[in-house]
This record gives sequence, C-alpha cells and structure tokens, in this order.
Amino acid sequence: MAALSARALASQLGDWRPLGATPLYEALADRIRLLILDGRVTLGTRMPAERLLADHEQLSRTTVANAYARLRELGYLRSVRGSGSVARLPALEPGAAPFSTPSIGERPEPGVVDFSKATLPAIPLVAEVAREAAELLPGFLHETGFDAWGLLAVRQAIADRYTARGVPTTVDEVMITLGAQHAIALVARTLLARGDRALIESPSYPHAVEALREAGARLVAVPVTTDGGWDTEALDQVFPRTAPALAYLMTEFHNPTGRTMPAEQRALLLRRAAEAGTVLVVDETMAELGFAPGAVQPPPFAAAALAQPSGPRAEVVTLGSVGKSIWGGVRLGWIRADRDLITRFAHARLAGDLGSPILEQLVLLRLLEQYDRLLDARRADLRAGHALLTIELARRFPTWIVPPVDGGLSLWVNLGQPVSSQLALAARAEGLLVGAGPRFAVDGAFERFLRLPFCLPADTTLAALDLLERAWARVGGSAGAPVAGPDDEVLSAVV
Ligand SMILES: Cc1ncc(COP(=O)(O)O)c(C=O)c1O
Repeated sequence: MAALSARALASQLGDWRPLGATPLYEALADRIRLLILDGRVTLGTRMPAERLLADHEQLSRTTVANAYARLRELGYLRSVRGSGSVARLPALEPGAAPFSTPSIGERPEPGVVDFSKATLPAIPLVAEVAREAAELLPGFLHETGFDAWGLLAVRQAIADRYTARGVPTTVDEVMITLGAQHAIALVARTLLARGDRALIESPSYPHAVEALREAGARLVAVPVTTDGGWDTEALDQVFPRTAPALAYLMTEFHNPTGRTMPAEQRALLLRRAAEAGTVLVVDETMAELGFAPGAVQPPPFAAAALAQPSGPRAEVVTLGSVGKSIWGGVRLGWIRADRDLITRFAHARLAGDLGSPILEQLVLLRLLEQYDRLLDARRADLRAGHALLTIELARRFPTWIVPPVDGGLSLWVNLGQPVSSQLALAARAEGLLVGAGPRFAVDGAFERFLRLPFCLPADTTLAALDLLERAWARVGGSAGAPVAGPDDEVLSAVV
C-alpha cells in the first residue's frame, strides 16, 4: 500500500488555514477531502500518522485527530488495523450528493454541471465522417489492422500539414497516438529514467504532471503567470542548474494561463536546451485555437527549432491532437519527431498498446481533409464563448481579475483571495464541478486561481455561473477590491 509522508501531504495541502471562523480541524478535513476527490491523494493511500502531520503542520494532535475523525465520518478515510488511515471515497447512496471529481474523461453524476473540463462538444460532422470512414473500412480488412506507427495515409496528411505550416516533415517523422495524453505518457516513459529531472511549467496541465511523475521524473518548475508569461530568468538558469532530460511545455495558449511564448524566449529555450541536452516536448494540442479576429495562425514551435544557428541543436518533439479542436471522443493524436525518436517511441509503445484503431484513423483522415475549415468554425465558437464568459464574469464577480487571452479554451482567473479549494468544495455542494487552482500546481499552490472554460455551450456556461455565484456567496466572497493576503509575495514568486 502506498504511503504518504507528512511532508508530501503538507506540500499538497498548501495554504489551507481558514480565513474566517471555520474551526481548524474542519478546514484541514475539507482540504484533505478535496485532495482525495481531485485524485491528488490516490485512493488506497495510507495517510501520515496524526502525530507526524501535527508536528509538520504545527498543530495540536487533537486537531489532526479531529480532522481524520471527520473524514472517517464522511467516508473519506477508513481505519485499517496496523496501517492507520487509508484514503477512500464514500459509497454513493441513491440520490446522494455527488462526490467524485471526474478527471478529464470521466463522467460526472447526472444533474451535475461539469465546469472542470476544458473540452468542446463534438462538431456534428463527426457522425457524418464516421459513416464515410466505415465505408472505407472494407479496403483494410485483409490486413492485420494495427501497427505502432499508424496508417500511412493519416501520417502523410499530418506530415503535409506540418510542411505547409513551415516545418518540412516526412511520413516517418510522424506517429499516430491514442490522443495527446497517450503521447505525453509514451514520450515520458521512453525518454526518462527513474530519477531524471524533467522541466515543467507551473502551473501546468495536471495529467502531464502525473505522467512525468509516473515515469519517475523529479520535476523542476518554471513559473508562468497570466501577466508576465514565462519567467525568463528561470528559463535561463534552470537548464544549466538542473540539466533536465526532458522539458514539457505548452508554448501556445498555455493551459491554464492562456499565454503564448514570445519569439525571444523560444530562442533562449532552444539554446539552453541544446546546451543541456534536454529534449523539448512541446504540446501543441491548443496551438491552432487562436481566435483573435484576423489573427495569423502561428507556425509550430518546431519552426523556431529549424531556425537554430549552427552548433548543438535542441531536439524537439511536437505533440498534436484533435481532442481539443474537433472532439476528445475521436481519441487520436500524434507525435512529430526525428525519425530515430519516432522509432524508439514505436518500440516502447508495444508494452502498453499495439496501435491506434483503424476506424478512428479513417475518421481522422476525413477530418484532416477539411481541417482548416473546421478550425475556423471552432475559433468562431471559442470567440463567442470567450466573450460570453468575460462579460458574465465582469458582471457577476467584479472583484475577480480576468486576464486577457486570445486563444485556447479557458481562463485562469485570479479570485483575489486564497479560497480556490474552498470555492471548489462549495461549488460541489451546489452541484457544480470546477477546477480549483491547486489542481494545476506541481506542488499545492495557486489557491487564488480558478480555471474556467469558455468552450462549453452558452446554456451550460450560464448554468455553471449561477451555481458558482451561490458557491462564492457560501465562502463569503465579497464585492469590493481584491483582498491582498499575507502570502501574496510568496505566490507571486511561483505563479
Ligand atoms: C495541454 C493538454 N494536452 C493534452 C491533453 C489531452 O489531449 P487528448 O485528448 O488528445 O489526449 C489535454 C487535455 O485536456 C491538454 O489540456
């Protein structure tokens, strides 16, 4: 059974102490409950002994004992003889309040508004294209139907698209994966040995953090903020100091801040990565979702890599997907990399899966034929969703700081107070799932932030905001100027 040390739990807890009159034990129990619900404390994990957590958090043992007792009463901990307290979820009674946070890909309970995922519903064309794809299937039935690289025609279509966007690409530099998530995990376990360092942005996409950790990486974080973007000094220093084997980055419409990395920082990143021998893994699942009117769609990050001056060159692995642009249900993405690396990924893949399904690849092929037109339509939807969300946020939550973004699917909103986890719990009680800031942290920070998607249908967005208003009132959210807390200085150093 996995055990969580007091130190590891404390770093996940972040700044959990209540601002108001909530008793300490209750606030502690609430925060641990959210960690369990969010999957940040894995079910079945043994929690630290009461005494150790009390020492670490400078609490009385009674406070921790009361918090654990409360969690047991609510069904989030169970006592195991000889093993202390183990994380669990309460059994779901018929009609009971929902409890589980579906992470991306899971379903929320009926009646719950899910505002925790930044993914678009499918375009109706997917069904039509799927019928056409089925008609192509007989042409493939005489073959084995699977291989680790993917259908030649699909790889060719993707290679052609990169070439047209300024990055000449051949078919053997492309591999079809089961979505970008599969690609992240595959690249991580192929390129990382246990104990290697991996660079990650902070905040970042939570399931990438998990995939890197699962591959045994020790994470080093570079801050990205909504107003300052990437911290140039950190980018400059982290490579010589830590020599990461891999860096996972979202240089276009970074999830969750929405920032895009400027050209000078790309050049710096490439220089430092080349010197340190770091492979840059650039996740471009969001890259073509810039919706500013008249915006020119940027070339892939790999274009900057091609422009590197002579001398050592940084290796760039590009990840793409139709999960954010067309529909997550198509479940296909791709990797673009040097031919030798693609071969390594293909060989490493076989231990986990043997290839991507043919029928879905035929769907992808059809979608790629009209991808530019589909992207235009998506961008128009996102522009409208973004306008709706920003107008509604300004009206309903005038104290929140809403950053300007011109692409991607979500906003990284500053609540002005470190209450994101409390708000997420209150929202849950109202029947709304939202992604609390710490969900995007490498190590429990961002209590002032909340990620809000603008890619959902307007009626879902409005229903979610109604519930969010009620939750905000529950946590004592106030109109008036944003409250600067004592941890502002500390947070500004990391976010
Ligand atoms: C940045 C980023 N990369 C990858 C993924 C997963 O993509 P896919 O659906 O293609 O697996 C997500 C999904 O939320 C994401 O936000």
